[in-house]
Amino acid sequence: MRLLAISGSLRRSSYNSALLQAAAAACPRAAEFVIWRGLADIPAYDEDLDHTPPPAVTELREEIARAHAVLIATPEYNGSIPGALKNALDWASRPFPDNCLRRKPVAVIGASTGLFGARWAQADLRKVLKTIGASVLETELPIASAHEAFSPECQLREPHLAVSLCGIVGELLQGTLRDVA
Ligand code: FNR
Repeated sequence: MRLLAISGSLRRSSYNSALLQAAAAACPRAAEFVIWRGLADIPAYDEDLDHTPPPAVTELREEIARAHAVLIATPEYNGSIPGALKNALDWASRPFPDNCLRRKPVAVIGASTGLFGARWAQADLRKVLKTIGASVLETELPIASAHEAFSPECQLREPHLAVSLCGIVGELLQGTLRDVA
C-alpha cells in the first residue's frame, strides 16, 4: 500500500509539511508513506503541452498513478488554495477524464496560522479534486493557530487533533483496501 503525501506549501518551515510529518508517524508500518517534494519544479500549466508535458509533470503524474491513495495538506492563501497547488492539480487532471487522479482515494487536511485552520482552502480543494474525478473523503482536519499546534518533533500538541489525523490516515487506507479488494 503506497500513500503519496503532497504539501501545498513551498515554505521551508511549512506547518502543512509538518502536518504531513505527523501523518507519516501515524501511518501503519505496513503502508509506505511517500512525501512528494516536486511542487517547486512544476511550471505554469499550458494546454499546448498536454501531450508533451515537462519532465516534472510526468514525474508527478507517475507518482500519483503509483500511489494507492493521496493525502494533501493545504495552506490557505487569501481564502483559497495556493496557486502552486492548483497549478499542479491542473496538470494532474489531464488528460481528462482518464487522468491519474480519477477514482483515486484522496484526503484533504490543512493548517493555517489563523483561527479557522484553512477550512475554506480545504473546501475549495475538495471541490477541485471532485471536479477532476478523484474519490474524495469528506472528513476535514482544520489545524488552527498552526504556529502553536506542533511540537519541535512535528507532532500535534492537541491529542484530539492527533487522533483525528490518525483516523483520516486509517480511513484513507481502508478506502484503498476496499478499492483493491
Ligand atoms: C496567508 N495566510 C492565511 N491564513 C488564513 O487562515 N487564511 C488566509 O486567507 C490566509 N491568506 C494568506 C495569504 C498569503 C499570501 C500568505 C503568505 C499567508 C497565513 C497562512 O495561514 C500561514 O502563512 C501559514 O503558515 C501558511 O502555511 P505553511 O506555509 O506554514 O504551510
